[in-house]
This record gives sequence, structure tokens and C-alpha cells, in this order.
Amino acid sequence: MTDSSETPVRSDGRSTWAREAAERLERTDRTVSPVIYPPETDAFDGLHVWDTWPLRNRDGSLAEIDGHRVILALTATDDLLPGKRHDVAAIHYFHSTDGRSWIHGGPLFDGDALGSRQWAGSAMYEDGAVYAFYTASGFRGEEELTYTQRIAGATGGEVVAVNDADLRIEGEWDHRILLEPDGDLYEREDQSRGMTYTFRDPWFFEDPADGETYLVFEANTPVPEGTNPCDSDPVAAEFNGSIGIARSPTDDPMAWELEPPLLDAVCVNQELERPHLVVRDGQYYLFISSHQHTFAPGIEGYDALYGFVADDLRGKYRPLNGHGMVATNPANAPFQSYSWTAYDHGDELLVVSFFNYYDYVGATLDGIAELPESEQFRRFGGTLAPTLRVALDGDRTTVLGTLRHGDVPLPREALKAVDRGGRPRLAGGRGSYRR
Ligand code: FRU
Repeated sequence: MTDSSETPVRSDGRSTWAREAAERLERTDRTVSPVIYPPETDAFDGLHVWDTWPLRNRDGSLAEIDGHRVILALTATDDLLPGKRHDVAAIHYFHSTDGRSWIHGGPLFDGDALGSRQWAGSAMYEDGAVYAFYTASGFRGEEELTYTQRIAGATGGEVVAVNDADLRIEGEWDHRILLEPDGDLYEREDQSRGMTYTFRDPWFFEDPADGETYLVFEANTPVPEGTNPCDSDPVAAEFNGSIGIARSPTDDPMAWELEPPLLDAVCVNQELERPHLVVRDGQYYLFISSHQHTFAPGIEGYDALYGFVADDLRGKYRPLNGHGMVATNPANAPFQSYSWTAYDHGDELLVVSFFNYYDYVGATLDGIAELPESEQFRRFGGTLAPTLRVALDGDRTTVLGTLRHGDVPLPREALKAVDRGGRPRLAGGRGSYRR
């Protein structure tokens, strides 16, 4: 299916994450983030907070509304066993005037969202209106939880900055299913042979090259029974993650048409989670999160932020650093953070993630469920992790250190680093430390 060069593409032009590249994955000084600890005070007390995304303008920049910025996140109340949170996830919003202290605005929707729970997405702000994109997981009102995933959108919400200290998102939301898998470009649930199934995590993106409007999302590529794309390894063929894309023919954020995936990882990895793009110097950086346990047998991967770069949106995408890994957790805290969202901060890339299971060095995340419940609670961060600073230099990246937990500085605001990581700096401009 792939050729064996450094920039593999399928015969139909689709970029792939080649097994040869993924087999080179390893922790290095450039890709490992510092050990992190619980914050002194949890800004999100009372809630488990995990996947997080900022409210952004149509062009992808962070929205600033009367001095406020806004983040949205998946949440559950923190009396719930952390491993159960995905079953009840609800999107809440938080606002801040300094990007450091976050005020809880409340649930984004008022109970009529699609799905029995809502999973990750993105949000776009335009002329006072909020367009929310999310994963409708299961079906509203279902008695038994199902794992069907559909990509949903909602309009009708507006940002109201009540005063200097307060902001509300209000309105009569109109929820619609925007995309479902077609079974040809994107696997349907009933076609799935893999360990988990995905069709989720829509991310709004306007291509600066031509102003076209897209949603990118996490999906799987159909691999029909009897076909053997992985050098006759039928087990590897069950690992079929892809980064999907849909285009809006009219720029209407509620009207989308599926297009062929930007990249897939057939034979390599099952879940390419929360894909998103940063365009810098005309280069398209495509990021995803993935887990150590979703790599095909024989590939030693990590819970990490991975990335690819191409000269245009459609690729050829090359794995960053020759293998694809950008930032992972240290070996002595391999599950301390997850679900990374990168944005451009001028000289550096800043990466927001959540504080996951710390003080835990099991072989896989599955081991958490074996611990006594009190330990599962104790070891779960459930809040935002320290924001990571990453230097980008063409196809190379370097973890530079961290800011504080949950810091979301605007590009014009100086960085207040708390950990410089003692890592090498890149020569010259990009990546050199600036206070
Ligand atoms: C990543 C993720 C997302 C999904 C959410 C569900 O952490 O798996 O892909 O939307 O968690 O909680």
C-alpha cells in the first residue's frame, strides 16, 4: 500500500504514516516533556476536565471578546470514577481575562445536545455568534450506552460579555448531525474489526491559501475482510486510523461534504485523535494525539502528541522528526498528560493538554482499572496540565519547557515559563527563548 520512502503516499495520492517511520519512535530530549505535578489550586475544582479547545475566530486565531478569552472542555463531576467520565461527558465553557485564571461559565448546551453524551470538538466565533462542533456519541435518551459516533454542529449561541469579569454563552441552540461515515472513505461502525471504532472530534479549519472551509476529524479507513494491506499481517490490518476531512462548498459552517482522508495509519495505529492544523511559514502542521496501546503489534509508541508537515493542505505529509512524535510524557510518568491541542504563539507553538494519570508507571493505561477506586481517584489529575512550549523548525521540533497549568497566552502576550527543561535550543530565531 505504501512505498518505502520517507514521504510515503498511496497510489491514489493519500499520505500515510509509514510503519518504517513509526518503528523509529523513541523518547529523546527533544520529545520528552518535564514531569508534572498537581497544581497548587485546581482551577476546575468540582469537575473532571479533560479534552479542551479554545474558542477561535474563523481564521483560526484565538477569539478575544471584550478582553475575555474562552476555552471549552469535556467535563464530568469529580465524584465520578475517572474512567467512567467518557460515559457522561458534557461540554462546559470557561473564560478568562488573563489566560491564567479560568472562571466556570457552565454547560455550553442546555440538555438538548445530540448523543447520549458529547465528545470532543471545536468552536468558531464570528460576529458575536458561536458555532459549536462536537461528537454526538450514542443517541439521546438511549437506555444502554452505545458507541456510535456522529459529527454534530450547533448554531444559535451568542457570546455576551456581561461585564469586565463575566461572560456568558447564551441562546437557543439548533443541533444538527453534520457528517456520518459513508462506508467507503470512512469506516462505519458495522464494518469495524479493530479494538475501538472512531468517527469523531471535528476541528474547524479555514485554509489561509484560498479561504476554503473544512472540518478535519478522527476516523478509520475501511479494510475489508479478505484484503491484506499489511504484508500479510491480519492483526496489523485491524489498526486503521485516519485523519478525515470534509469541505464546506459554500463556507456555511453547517454544510459539509466528505472528502478523502488527509492521511491514514493503516497497519500502524488505530486512533489518530483530535486532529488539528497550524499553518506557519506556508507549512501545514497536522497534529494528533495517540495512545501507546493503539499502535499495531511490534510498534513501540507512546501516549504522545504526533505531527506531520506538508507544503499544502492535501499533503504529502511527512512525519515530524522523521517518526512523527512531537511531545510525550517521561518514562517515569508515561500517562501524566494527554489530548494535546497546539496553537501558534509566534516564536513557539503552545500546547494545551489535560493532567491525566500521574504517579502511575504501569505497562498500559488499562492497568488503572485494576487499582482500588481510591487510587484511581488519587492518581487522576482531571484538570489542565502545564502548557507545553515547543519550537518548530521545518520538520524538526523541540520541547522547550512549560508554562503553568492551563495557561493560554495570546500571541501578543509574553510567556511566563516555569520550566525551561534544560533542553537544547534551536540555533537562531525560532525556538530561542524569549521572556
Ligand atoms: C481523547 C478522546 C477523544 C474523545 C474523548 C472522549 O481524549 O478519546 O477522541 O472525543 O476523548 O472523552
